[in-house]
Amino acid sequence: MNELSALVDLLNKKNKLLMLASIITCILSVAFGIIPYFGVFGIVSEFLKDYSEPTVLFKYVIAITIAIILKHLLHGTSTKISHRVAYQTLGETRKKMFKKISSLPMGYVKTTASGEIKTMIMDHTEQLETFYAHNIPEVISGLVIPICMEIAVFNLNRRVGFITLIPVALFFISSAIMIVVQIRKIDDYNNSVADLNANTIEYTHGMKELKIFAADDATYDNFSKSIRNYSEMIIQWFKSCLGYVAFNHADLTANLVFLFPLGGLMFLNQGLTAASFIMFLFMGLAMLIPLEKIADNLDYIGVNASVAKKIVDLLNEEELPDTGVEKSLKGYDIKFDNVDFSYNQDSKILDNVTFTAKEKTVTALVGVSGSGKSTLASLIYRFWDVSQGQISMGGIPLKEMSLSQLMNSTSFVTQGNFLFKKTIRENIMLGNQGATEEEMIEASKSAVCHDFISKLPHGYDTIVDKETKLSGGEKQRITIARAILKKAPVVILDEATAYIDPDNEDLLQKALAKLSENKTVLVIAHRLSSIKNADSIIVLENGKVITQGTHEVLIQDCKAYQSMWDAFNQSDNWKMGGSAS
Ligand SMILES: Nc1ncnc2c1ncn2[C@@H]1O[C@H](COP(=O)(O)OP(=O)(O)OP(=O)(O)O)[C@@H](O)[C@H]1O
Ligand SMILES: [Mg+2]
Repeated sequence: MNELSALVDLLNKKNKLLMLASIITCILSVAFGIIPYFGVFGIVSEFLKDYSEPTVLFKYVIAITIAIILKHLLHGTSTKISHRVAYQTLGETRKKMFKKISSLPMGYVKTTASGEIKTMIMDHTEQLETFYAHNIPEVISGLVIPICMEIAVFNLNRRVGFITLIPVALFFISSAIMIVVQIRKIDDYNNSVADLNANTIEYTHGMKELKIFAADDATYDNFSKSIRNYSEMIIQWFKSCLGYVAFNHADLTANLVFLFPLGGLMFLNQGLTAASFIMFLFMGLAMLIPLEKIADNLDYIGVNASVAKKIVDLLNEEELPDTGVEKSLKGYDIKFDNVDFSYNQDSKILDNVTFTAKEKTVTALVGVSGSGKSTLASLIYRFWDVSQGQISMGGIPLKEMSLSQLMNSTSFVTQGNFLFKKTIRENIMLGNQGATEEEMIEASKSAVCHDFISKLPHGYDTIVDKETKLSGGEKQRITIARAILKKAPVVILDEATAYIDPDNEDLLQKALAKLSENKTVLVIAHRLSSIKNADSIIVLENGKVITQGTHEVLIQDCKAYQSMWDAFNQSDNWKMGGSAS
């Protein structure tokens, strides 16, 4: 039942009150909807008298007309309020989710497939509209009519009341069982939808690679498996509900099955007048129709409740702790003190890492693929928090600095930096919103992108989207320009130059040298030639620092470094000469 309370938790105080207003107007609308039945009963009773007074009949007709008009007006008002509540709640929930995601550890966002996050923010949240705007008013009106009419029938004749209660009781028993069955299946259902979404996005994004490698059917396995799972899930879902739905629909039209013979018997035994018998038949026919609305809404209530629970769970995820306090730093040395880190409890990715990347120097991280270089760098940006030990900047532990101070002090350039669907100027200016045009162009020149940007028909006003044909290297250089403009005192480069072609490499190395001037630079590069001149090189092996020193020292003393250097030279020669020998 946590699921159902999650639906209420998402409403803010004002919207809870508005929802109450919508419910009350809905109940009033329903109450006015019942009046015509009594009006008809009155008219029938008048007709059964020896003499019927025309003015009395006229009053009944007027009352029925007014009741019908009010019923519709109130129903419209109720729906209008409920839609307002729904869309406000949807908007607010989306905003809260965006805010939440930005305050969660970046690692969470990186490891949760973008498809899953998109499904949660867009599709799942959209689904809730049905609950707030339709399910609540419809279920309530669907409940109130039968309850009010049931009370009325009980007041008029208790025995008939019991007769009309038979199908109602059967309906509620069957619906309750159906909801329990659904809630048990709902997680599987939602997981299969999320899995399908994530795989569809991965499949469409990877379409190019699938074509290049002429992938056979086996490659589509994940995708087709999630389609199969989803369709099996849906079939199971419908199968599990089918019996109950069929029973409910038959039951809701079965009131006369009980009322006609039993009421008829009472009429024959003088337990009922003819007018009352006719009246009860009318009421019996009408009172169960609204329950069909509930039956139609039940499917959605279960799904929406589970969706709301997922959203509430996300909103309750533990945030990255942020002291929010600006600290005064003693310089910008980055110091790792006995740092351990693991993504999960099973294996240590970083093991007792201790080193200092000195201010105004370049520290390079080298190590074979998977040795933990990117992980180490991402800890400085607090994509994750360390499991043991401490990282500090300028003598202050990262956890004690505000996140905004940390972000402002650090530039992180990786291969995967993202460009927004904005102009190139705006993309570069993201580094420093207050920079002047001249500063922006200067940064762009330093990152060797000014020339190609100037040649574009719209120059810096070119919007970066699918139509803009920028190469991987060009995009990479724009992100470097952004980092240069930021002028952060700490610069982390993770394979930042990987895309750069040989013609531009020298220029870019100069630009990076300029970016690195007087900064604390931590650089990760597979091309060892690019970090040969670093002030200090740290060699990582299976998450442990095995040694630290300059190229000249390491090439003499460190076997691991020597073999990496040899392997690099061999691959470089192979590229130049077309052969490894
Ligand atoms: N998000 C993650 N969740 C779990 N394990 C991860 C995650 N990211 C990386 N790893 C694991 O951590 C280890 C170190 O990965 P990392 O990316 O830091 O290596 P690297 O030295 O940067 O490698 P490369 O040179 O290939 O970039 C690897 O075994 C990798 O499988
Ligand atoms: Mg890496």
